[in-house]
Amino acid sequence: MDKIVILTGAGISAESGLGTFRDKDGIWTRYPIEDVATPEGFARNPALVQDFYNQRRAQAAKAQPNAAHRALARLQADYAGEVVIVTQNVDALHEAGGARGVLHMHGELARALCNACGHRWDAPEVMAPADPCPACGRPETRPDVVWFGEIPYHMDDIWTHLGGAGLFAAIGTSGNVYPAAAFVQEAAAAGAHTVELNLEPSVTVSDFAETRHGAATEVVPDWVDAVLSGRA
Ligand code: APR
Repeated sequence: MDKIVILTGAGISAESGLGTFRDKDGIWTRYPIEDVATPEGFARNPALVQDFYNQRRAQAAKAQPNAAHRALARLQADYAGEVVIVTQNVDALHEAGGARGVLHMHGELARALCNACGHRWDAPEVMAPADPCPACGRPETRPDVVWFGEIPYHMDDIWTHLGGAGLFAAIGTSGNVYPAAAFVQEAAAAGAHTVELNLEPSVTVSDFAETRHGAATEVVPDWVDAVLSGRA
């Protein structure tokens, strides 16, 4: 059976009430990226950045997985081959919906990182600037999320998965951010069939062999049904 590799973005969590970034009134229309999602912004004003992530952590903690998250977990459970989910999202809704082995290439709101010793641990609900690291005690702690200008996590594994994919799907992502926006070309070069499932055409829509546009809670379960019945 073909290996299936799935990339998800903020759009898959939109119907769970979590904001996307570039839609109308998206997160980046309310917070300048350089202030809250760069190492320079964190160095300049750690309290602002911690508050930004504390707010998102509180929202994510209240959110529930939706039919799209659950459909991907069903695909992992019922498909005879391997299904790898790579997400740009820092929420834990894939796991809450039953998915396993999710690769969080932009990190996770629920984790904290010490810049001094590299220790990672489960983040408290509220992180404050200069909280001491539980391992080394130094006040160099931050949310374990990947900021612009930093290297995404799990990239070696992700490129390997894409090189062996028979089917690649991008769900709920605008295709604006690299390297994730290039995954479709990597998968296509490996001979995979590629499909975009999104509310509207992404900026990379022309890279996909197939498109299924609509709300994730509608198009994703339909697509999973088609894959499991051999119709996709
Ligand atoms: N169903 C399906 N797709 C949706 C829905 C929905 N209900 N609502 C919105 N979308 C689509 C939008 O049309 C848009 O194309 O989800 C996409 C969200 O795009 P972005 O807001 O750009 O989010 P994303 O692609 O995940 O951003 C990638 O950029 O800012 C960084 O680190 C951040 O991980 C993020 C990365």
